Amino acid sequence: MLCGAALLVISFSWAVIAQPSPEDLAPLLAGLERQPQIRQIDRRVPLSTNDPTVAPLIDLQVFAPPVTPKNATSCTEILLEHSFGDGSYNAPAVVEYTPPTHPSCGEVGKWAAISLNLSVYSIGTQYDRLSAIYLSHSEIWRSSSAEPTKTGTVWNTVKDVTHFTPLFAKTGDLMMDFSNIIAPDLLLDGVFEVIITATFYAPTKSFPAAVTSDVIIPLSNLNDTLPNFFTITDDVGGVTDVALPDTAIEAYVEVFCSGNSAEEFWYLNTPDEFVQDFPASSGMIGKGPFREVQVLVDGQLAGVVWPYPVIYTGGITPSNWRPLTSYGAYDQPTYWVDITPFIPILLDKRTSHTVTLRVVGQGITAPSFNSNWFVSGSIHVRTGRSKTTGKMTSYSAPKLKISTVGGSSPGNTTVWTKVVAHRELKIESELHTSEGKKSVRFSQSLDFTNEAKYADEGWIQWGEQTTTGTTTSNHEGKEVLRDAFTYPLSVFSNYSLYTEEFGAYGSEINQTHIRALQPPIGFYRAIQSVQHARGAIGMDNWPGLRHAINGTGATDQKFAYVDGRGETYFRDIAAKNDGWVRDTVWGSLCDANPPVPPHQIFGPGGGPGFRRMVNTGLP
Ligand SMILES: *[C@@H]1O[C@H](CO)[C@@H](O)[C@H](O)[C@H]1NC(C)=O
Ligand SMILES: *[C@@H]1O[C@H](CO)[C@@H](O)[C@H](O)[C@H]1NC(C)=O
Ligand SMILES: *[C@@H]1O[C@H](CO)[C@@H](O)[C@H](O)[C@H]1NC(C)=O
Ligand SMILES: *[C@@H]1O[C@H](CO)[C@@H](O)[C@H](O)[C@H]1NC(C)=O
Ligand SMILES: *[C@@H]1O[C@H](CO)[C@@H](O)[C@H](O)[C@H]1NC(C)=O
Ligand SMILES: *[C@@H]1O[C@H](CO)[C@@H](O)[C@H](O)[C@H]1NC(C)=O
Ligand SMILES: *[C@@H]1O[C@H](CO)[C@@H](O)[C@H](O)[C@H]1NC(C)=O
Repeated sequence: MLCGAALLVISFSWAVIAQPSPEDLAPLLAGLERQPQIRQIDRRVPLSTNDPTVAPLIDLQVFAPPVTPKNATSCTEILLEHSFGDGSYNAPAVVEYTPPTHPSCGEVGKWAAISLNLSVYSIGTQYDRLSAIYLSHSEIWRSSSAEPTKTGTVWNTVKDVTHFTPLFAKTGDLMMDFSNIIAPDLLLDGVFEVIITATFYAPTKSFPAAVTSDVIIPLSNLNDTLPNFFTITDDVGGVTDVALPDTAIEAYVEVFCSGNSAEEFWYLNTPDEFVQDFPASSGMIGKGPFREVQVLVDGQLAGVVWPYPVIYTGGITPSNWRPLTSYGAYDQPTYWVDITPFIPILLDKRTSHTVTLRVVGQGITAPSFNSNWFVSGSIHVRTGRSKTTGKMTSYSAPKLKISTVGGSSPGNTTVWTKVVAHRELKIESELHTSEGKKSVRFSQSLDFTNEAKYADEGWIQWGEQTTTGTTTSNHEGKEVLRDAFTYPLSVFSNYSLYTEEFGAYGSEINQTHIRALQPPIGFYRAIQSVQHARGAIGMDNWPGLRHAINGTGATDQKFAYVDGRGETYFRDIAAKNDGWVRDTVWGSLCDANPPVPPHQIFGPGGGPGFRRMVNTGLP
């Protein structure tokens, strides 16, 4: 048996206003307890290369597969096939998208579900590269890459994109940015071979057409040829002119965001107040660890996102994440802000209107964060039959509460810092719509704590962070959005020997993602992912760019998913030294995303590890 099913009774409450509640968590924990006992096959497939592993190595981010109808007709179409190699940096692939016409796909726009399968193959050496996929200039998928092996690596991720039905129902441009750099002088030769397929499911009696928004308005730079996310480097943010349909009844912003470059590890950045404690040679990055992504309507704060820190496959210690990535690496979480309370303002014809996506950090001088953040999104609008009127009745968005403290021992041998932040927001409106009067109340309550300890002039760092919060929105007594989350992250990193000849570095990371989400479009889902990773890398001395020559890394993960349709997905998975240690999948959705095949499983010792020729720098 590859994939086991376990029966589970699900009960959850819609009304709890708190972080993931006991009712959210109980079915996740109960499901994990029911792990089927499956004998692990201990088998190796050695390959005679200096990077000896199974070829192609299956690399993955754990995800719960999309829920699709069991007996429906469906069709699968290739949306894009592209090779992201030399010259692909800032040069997205753009192809025309047309809705599928074959009868097995179901009626255009009336699908039960749509899923996308992003499949990538790469062979050689490459950094982790960021990717974004857009349909008609709305971002629909943010992901990153594996750092491939020299014998080839493949990763497939499947994502439910049903809530983008209005975009899939019309002709448009499909854009994929996967900015890659091929540089033989830096030994970077890994090209990304991408295939994206879409599967459209016709509705059935027991699985009717999905209820989605009617109109999707991109919040992006709308460029035809360049990546569409805003590259945010200042405190102004990315501004989109927005004209909402007069009949708008509901409007929700979905936000995609990620820190890049000096912001990739924003949660480990040092508060400006303490950067001076370290010698310049340590290269401490300032502006602190707190980040808020804001959604503003006509310049007024409408809601915020306190993002989950996605660690990419090259993040902190690359050997930690091959072949099992951190949660979110190949399908980043997105966030919802209900701007329905702003509909009366957005429909005021006397002025034009904007929606801004902005990033706020805690730097003591502007900009408040480092360069840069990639942010975009869209507004999902549901329309009625007549013009909506109304007014905002209450607006409360007190200033962010944030405190930064810290200290150091004599001579700054050790330094500590602590940042605590809290945010409350509550906005209410009364709308008159074709569906009648609607009292709308959007609220957020968020908490953040980040403690850092440093030794060895900052080359050794312990960072411990927890972000928790609840976002809810209620329309005339109906809870249309609830996002209750807890994201603890603990990172120990040791770069003591980084600058030595044949240097080394390593880390130990615990990361948890617990989130109970009733999205405004689609079904309730709760996820708990608990990961532990540990690894070290040895480097050569090649001038210009020092390369990893060997490394160890081990990651294990327990993952649980339950949703409002009674579907479940559980996985207990571990990888070590470039090989799979174990993989057990159970729950009702297990067949749609089964464990890695037995010939990829090395057993408890893991793979042979990461090794490559020492580069002397001589031609
Ligand atoms: C699917 O079809 C099979 C055979 O046609 C039937 O036995 C089964 O009950 C159907 N399942 C659902 C969920 O409709
Ligand atoms: C995704 O696409 C790849 C490549 O086309 C294919 O090998 C894989 O089976 C697909 N996965 C699913 C779940 O459809
Ligand atoms: C896209 O961006 C480029 C570079 O900024 C600019 O020259 C071009 O006009 C833009 N095109 C569109 C359609 O916005
Ligand atoms: C310790 O940090 C302070 C700033 O807080 C700085 O002025 C001082 O030079 C540092 N001392 C050493 C030995 O680095
Ligand atoms: C991670 O969790 C494990 C198990 O609880 C613990 O032993 C270890 O110290 C933790 N490491 C970090 C860096 O938090
Ligand atoms: C950091 O790594 C070095 C080299 O492996 C080791 O000697 C040292 O003990 C480590 N420091 C800590 C605090 O673990
Ligand atoms: C890498 O190789 C060096 C030199 O052979 C060795 O000292 C070190 O322990 C190795 N490191 C890892 C992480 O395997």
